[in-house]
Amino acid sequence: MCGIIGYNGPRKAEPLLIDGLKKLEYRGYDSAGIALVEKQGIQIFKKEGKVAALEAILPEESCATIGIGHTRWATHGAPKDRNAHPHSYGKVTLVHNGIIENEQALRTMLKNQGLSPISDTDTELIAMLMDHCYRGDPRDAIRAACALLEGSYALGILFEDHPQTLYAVRKDNPLILGLGEGEYFIASDIPAFSDHTPAYCLLDEGEIAELSPSGLTLYDRTDRIIKKPHHIADFGDISTVKDGYEHFMKKEIFEQPSVVRKTIDRYAENDRILTELGEDFRVDGKILIVGCGSAYHAALLGKNALEKYARIPTEVAIASEFRYSDPLLKKEDLVILISQSGETADTLAALRLAKEKGVPTLGIVNVFGSSIAREADTVLYTMAGPEISVATTKAYTCQAVMLYLLAMKLAHRSPAELKELPQAIESALEQESLCQKLAEKYASAEHLFFIGRGRDYAVSREGSLKLKEISYIHSEAYAAGELKHGTISLIEQDTPVIAVITDRTLLPKTAANIKEVRARGAQVLCIAPKNGLLPDCDRLDLPDCNDLAAPIATAVRCQLLAYYAALARGTDIDQPRNLAKSVTVE
Ligand code: AGP
Repeated sequence: MCGIIGYNGPRKAEPLLIDGLKKLEYRGYDSAGIALVEKQGIQIFKKEGKVAALEAILPEESCATIGIGHTRWATHGAPKDRNAHPHSYGKVTLVHNGIIENEQALRTMLKNQGLSPISDTDTELIAMLMDHCYRGDPRDAIRAACALLEGSYALGILFEDHPQTLYAVRKDNPLILGLGEGEYFIASDIPAFSDHTPAYCLLDEGEIAELSPSGLTLYDRTDRIIKKPHHIADFGDISTVKDGYEHFMKKEIFEQPSVVRKTIDRYAENDRILTELGEDFRVDGKILIVGCGSAYHAALLGKNALEKYARIPTEVAIASEFRYSDPLLKKEDLVILISQSGETADTLAALRLAKEKGVPTLGIVNVFGSSIAREADTVLYTMAGPEISVATTKAYTCQAVMLYLLAMKLAHRSPAELKELPQAIESALEQESLCQKLAEKYASAEHLFFIGRGRDYAVSREGSLKLKEISYIHSEAYAAGELKHGTISLIEQDTPVIAVITDRTLLPKTAANIKEVRARGAQVLCIAPKNGLLPDCDRLDLPDCNDLAAPIATAVRCQLLAYYAALARGTDIDQPRNLAKSVTVE
């Protein structure tokens, strides 16, 4: 998703904006730009490609102390210089994260006013509309223009004739206000300014932030000045640099033992889950867990644990499906929203739908103060820390661990059963070189299948997503028993199949499936218990560990397989093509 950074303070803005954009690169983008308020007026510099390409066109010396910056993940219009942000029209220059859904109607309306945009973007229309509404008061113009917008937006705005002031407004997309010593930031995410201040406050929908030499002023919808609580970002000892690893993804894979331990310790000690959820927390109906991508796959593992241990009927839904499904929910149910970023548009919409139906909502989120964290009735924060790589690893395992902790709580079982999980993950990481060797063996494949049953199907789903999203190998995960119902027609000589078996009770069944695919020429890698009786195939042995630890430790092995397959194929591991870290649009 797009990234926004803005600055107003005593220091030169250009280096701070560029540094902020580099901290936002993890969100995924295809062009970048900044606008600087110089003495001679607002100067815009923007370029297709990475931030480095933008740096190459910047002026040697800029005296500007106010500016805005943007990394664009293309939605309307190809990644070209003309479509990069900032966009400007008349007195207004702005950057935008989101999608304007009534873009066509706006384009027609502006055209009827004789205004012709030069880009293909919805964002330029916002600048044109805001300039069209401008009569000298920026806040009036912002409100008038936003009243005509449908869809989602986070905006950083400059007005030519108010050169000392930077404005910000948002709807359905995050904007955070960095509170420095006599200097202020706006940003899509805290890492963009966290080197300069850990203090921040949150801008809510309909509010306008005004960053001027007199400081930061916040206005509500009626233009009344309001105060907001200040927060301190809790990065702990986890920094947002690679610490010597080649990729953020590898760093985050290897952080898993410590962040999983941190998550378990935070909630296992003195029954913190109950204090976070309230002493009277209970679920009389069913549980519905909603998420996207890997968050959905963590939910699948959560379902397995909640039904197995707490015996509570648990359903899982993909957020983009759930939000349009007219779900059958009762007030005694519980809807759990899983989201690393806490800003995924579909998951946020699912949360709002559940609340409209009067169903209690619980967010399991990694980013403090994110939209889902703020809007859910209760929230349990994972302790994964900032996750920079677009492909999630540590956040996914911490999401699954949170659901396991919840299952133990609802089952009135001790969370101590989770204590062996960090060690089980360590044992997975000790197989790194074997994972690398096996990954390199299969890296040239065009198609690769994962198979598993029950919770192992859930792990297979995540293993398959990790592999395809960073190595670009086409991969699909199948319930092992499903192969015979069509998919096995795709198995031919040397087709790689990864069989996941952490559940010993199902080992003979999946072993039979391995024989079926081998009989048709498949090359099989089996991730299974150490002494499990299996047909002859490549193996990644699982050490003895309990049913809670085994699937998560196996998912870590799949992360290593994906990482080294991608490394062998030379893809952009931390920022895979077409992907964004936080999908804040539908
Ligand atoms: C997983 O590697 C992907 N990055 C993606 O599937 C991600 O899990 C999904 O977009 C949900 O993101 P969220 O957890 O921030 O809501």
